[in-house]
Amino acid sequence: MSDAPVLEVNDLSMVFGGLRAVDNVSLNIKKGEIVALIGPNGAGKTTFFNCITGVYIPTHGEVKINTSEGSAVLNGLKPNVINEKGLARTFQNIRLFSNMTVLENVMIGRHQSLKSGILSSVLRTKKNRIEEQKVIDDSYEILRKIGLEMYVNELACNLPYGAQRRLEIARAMATNPFLLLLDEPAAGMNPQETNDLVELIERLRKEEDITILLIEHDMSLVMTLSERIYVVDYGKMIATGTPEEIKNNKEVIKAYLGEDIDA
Ligand SMILES: Nc1ncnc2c1ncn2[C@@H]1O[C@H](COP(=O)(O)OP(=O)(O)O)[C@@H](O)[C@H]1O
Ligand SMILES: [Mg+2]
Repeated sequence: MSDAPVLEVNDLSMVFGGLRAVDNVSLNIKKGEIVALIGPNGAGKTTFFNCITGVYIPTHGEVKINTSEGSAVLNGLKPNVINEKGLARTFQNIRLFSNMTVLENVMIGRHQSLKSGILSSVLRTKKNRIEEQKVIDDSYEILRKIGLEMYVNELACNLPYGAQRRLEIARAMATNPFLLLLDEPAAGMNPQETNDLVELIERLRKEEDITILLIEHDMSLVMTLSERIYVVDYGKMIATGTPEEIKNNKEVIKAYLGEDIDA
């Protein structure tokens, strides 16, 4: 494979009634990069994620991936199919199975990637039992990597807030993605939890060979982690560059007027 970007978004627009929530946005990410998508509230960041992950079918534009398995256009594919192609995400508002255990939450993600049918699990063949044990082992291993192994049998709803957010990342990782999309992963975290998250994201990139696109409001996290930043405002891309370039960009400062971006 050449050095084509793993994710290539061209001229993407998403219109709701009269509102252009995403307006002609293009973005690309190279393998192994950590890229941030930032912008004021309502700028269209989550909608952009929703278009990439199949929650919405974009009104216009193309979402394309380039991997060792070749290139594929994602427009029109269902979220689970896009997930199987190696894109996994977390949500701005935590979405866990709160009355299931931590291990079970990750196992669900793992099952999704295995596509093992309901019928085979009903029949409980020997092959199926071996597969099930592997799902448990793999899920435990993911939890260990994410630093949640002490909570395996705890109900998700009993975890401290920061650990719940990490569990969402663990569940996304369980689907074995090459690209992880994080929607405000540090939202609501205390400074210690945010530091741990920065460490986790850097470690995932390094050890799991993963590429990361993250939406985040915590500017110090964004400036620390990202190699490149894209800035949207009112659906439009207003700037892109390195953290240093973005900090000094007049358009960006104007968009954030009143908000502190000098992290
Ligand atoms: N399903 C929807 N229907 C109508 N409007 C929507 C929908 N989803 C998002 N919007 C609107 O699109 C704009 C961008 O929202 P969003 O992508 O959530 O912004 P951000 O994540 O940057 O805060 C907002 O004005 C929001 O109200
Ligand atoms: Mg959002």
